Amino acid sequence: MPAIRSSYTDSLFFFGKNTPQQLTAVYGSPLYVYNENILRRSCREMRGLSTHPGFRVTYSTKANSNPSLLRIIREEGCLVDAMSPGELRMNLNAGFLPEQILYVCNNVAEAELKNAVDYGLLVSVDSLAQLDLFGRVNRGGRVMLRFNPGIGAGHHKKVITAGKAAKFGIAPGELDEARVLLAKHNLALVGLNQHIGSLFMEPGGYLDAMDRLLAFAAALRPEEFAQLAILDFGGGFGIPYHKFENEARLDMAALGRGIHERISAFAAQKGYTGCFYVEPGRYIVAECGLLLGTVHAVKSHAGRRFVGTDLGFNTLMRPVLYNSHHDIEIYRAGGKSAAETLPQTVVGNICENGDMLADNRALPEIRIGDLLGVLDAGAYGFAMCSNYNLRLRPAEVLICADGSYRLIRRRDSLDDLVRNVDV
Ligand code: LLP
Repeated sequence: MPAIRSSYTDSLFFFGKNTPQQLTAVYGSPLYVYNENILRRSCREMRGLSTHPGFRVTYSTKANSNPSLLRIIREEGCLVDAMSPGELRMNLNAGFLPEQILYVCNNVAEAELKNAVDYGLLVSVDSLAQLDLFGRVNRGGRVMLRFNPGIGAGHHKKVITAGKAAKFGIAPGELDEARVLLAKHNLALVGLNQHIGSLFMEPGGYLDAMDRLLAFAAALRPEEFAQLAILDFGGGFGIPYHKFENEARLDMAALGRGIHERISAFAAQKGYTGCFYVEPGRYIVAECGLLLGTVHAVKSHAGRRFVGTDLGFNTLMRPVLYNSHHDIEIYRAGGKSAAETLPQTVVGNICENGDMLADNRALPEIRIGDLLGVLDAGAYGFAMCSNYNLRLRPAEVLICADGSYRLIRRRDSLDDLVRNVDV
């Protein structure tokens, strides 16, 4: 491909039979592009973590809820979680059956719990108050409890979801109160789940938290234990965002060994015949997605070179929200791969000075008219897009297994912006 910096996507044939220029010529810029082969590969990698017959991969819809991607994930044999009526609706649209969807919610209204129950979903609640509410909605039904194992992990304190500072889950010490509520509403406790946080690159914390959940389950009364059908250890599996610095990958072989040994031993020792879930979002979709944008202005000011693009934080929130790093490729028709770099600050078109994709990053010289490819944008990319500054959310395109492309979401239109308001 004629490009300035594209070795990563070149090595994967990311754009199939197409170039980024062709895709933006058809669908405009900015544009989310996904690669089907990479998506299928990550689903298979996750499913390969254990051969235990009860092992299941439950994809966490919040990372990316495009129904065309969800359909591929379903074809690859994954289940899904949903945490809102919207995610539930997308999962159903993508062909998942209610028994393949786990509702893992947090602080929701009675109507939302009732909606999930009416669809026949199994629901996990994460506080005593929500358990009591759920019991009123679904007396005599089945329920799961989200457990706080006391260990958290994650790339930023905002995404650590267990431990002392977390708003999620029921602490082990609250079990007796939970028992009172389960009895009051005649609920069957059929599963336990947890999620320690998002993006770890070492298996240790996840495996320790697994041990805690398994110990908690093993300590239940025999009649309680006999009802358990699902033990869900959550997601959080990280991907390397520093591709151009050869950042090491999470050791999936070691992680798989750790998971497989634990669940196999538990099942054998306890006579447990239910399922074991892992619940990844990012690992499944992050690397199959890339965000394309266009450079519209370049200027130097007070010793900094600013590269002005259409990639405002309405299109990708992660750098602004968490200071997250995403590698950037540079595509220029007729351009040649360049090794020499200079510090450049890549910014968007939003009216805030924090609207920054890369701060003084060493990159080959970027020029007006270049296309930029923001790597690893498939997870929490489009999912966290907004219409801030009344910008239109980008279209999404899938590079199919045979290298052709297909539109899987059209760009917002100006009519979409005024659909729900009086004008
Ligand atoms: N299960 C539950 C209950 C969750 O809350 C989450 C993510 C997952 C599974 C999937 O976690 P993953 O495997 O994707 O790490 N917006 C942030 C990430 C927030 C994650 C929220 N919960 C980011 O862009 O880094």
